Amino acid sequence: MLYDFFKFMAFKMDAEKAHELSIAALSNFPRTMADSFGGDLEDLEKYRVDLNSMSWCFPVGLAAGLDKNASAINFFSRIPFGAVEVGTVTPLPQAGNPRPRLFRYIEEESLRNCMGFNNKGSEKVLKNILSSDKGNKVLGVNLGKNKDTSAENAPSDYVKLYNSFKDHCDYLVINVSSPNTPGLRDLQRHESMREIFEALKEERTNCKTPLFIKISPDLPLESIEGIFSLASEYSLSGVIATNTTIMEERGNGGVSGKLLTQRAKLVRERCLSVNAEFPELDFIGVGGISSFDDVWDYWKKGGVACQIYSSFIFQGPQVLHDIREGIDRKLMQNEMLTLSELLNNISDCK
Ligand SMILES: Cc1cc2nc3c(=O)[nH]c(=O)nc-3n(C[C@H](O)[C@H](O)[C@H](O)COP(=O)(O)O)c2cc1C
Repeated sequence: MLYDFFKFMAFKMDAEKAHELSIAALSNFPRTMADSFGGDLEDLEKYRVDLNSMSWCFPVGLAAGLDKNASAINFFSRIPFGAVEVGTVTPLPQAGNPRPRLFRYIEEESLRNCMGFNNKGSEKVLKNILSSDKGNKVLGVNLGKNKDTSAENAPSDYVKLYNSFKDHCDYLVINVSSPNTPGLRDLQRHESMREIFEALKEERTNCKTPLFIKISPDLPLESIEGIFSLASEYSLSGVIATNTTIMEERGNGGVSGKLLTQRAKLVRERCLSVNAEFPELDFIGVGGISSFDDVWDYWKKGGVACQIYSSFIFQGPQVLHDIREGIDRKLMQNEMLTLSELLNNISDCK
């Protein structure tokens, strides 16, 4: 109800202005008041999911890019997200691309953005994290190179970021898949990824913070096996798929939400089938997930944890409650008590 009013007001404004005002309001939101957005965390334990590298108390997390500067962790960790991923953060602050750079497709529950990693830089983001209270939620930090950093110096940006955040979060993500930083997606090439992982090798010997790589939905499906193989070779924790997709007919930038669903599903399904060959790696699915049915479909294909961004903008915390109700329904139908029991027997579940 509260979100409907909030959305009614916000959708009258320019999309980025509404986003900025919302984040500013949420960053000053008393933690307990998140309950009015459905923050009731009781009984979340029955929804817990375990990955190899971490455990989430709810199977859906907030995807990167919504809280780029880690300003509203107190709010997002109070509503029923199992994990909150902040960033993308770059070593130095940067303004991003010229505005307008965020567009809504209301009918299609989709967004297009060409933000370009606008963020306040690692120093400020770390300060925000240190002054936040994430409660029992998992906190991820998504890392990107600065626009002015050349491809050959990209590994050193990731090393700097890794060292800044490794002791202050529960997992880290190397983002090489945003379409809005020129040349960034080229870092998804095997040799470039290898250079980044190689540069991080020494730093990672004494650090157990899980490290993921986030990939684009526009990669050829045949390249996915190579990414998992490299992630395994360098003992990464896993892969996150997908980032936004390029749809030239819509304009610059990356498209997310329902317009991305089909492509993201295809990529996720390939990832899940390759993941079976690399069971030591975790997989986190994201892209166009907007209902319990989408999550159920993902679980039926072998997925466990997932993230959302666009559906949270269009539906607010209700999307999380709908997913929670969907899980309760399935538990009842299948006479089971916990989500992990359901996921362990998913192929037999109705
Ligand atoms: C406005 C906007 C900004 C985003 N910024 C980032 C970002 O900084 N880093 C990142 O890894 N992904 C970013 N994303 C991508 C999301 O994390 C997610 O991968 C993508 O939107 C697909 O999920 P969805 O369909 O649920 O929105 C952004 C998405 C949107 C809509």
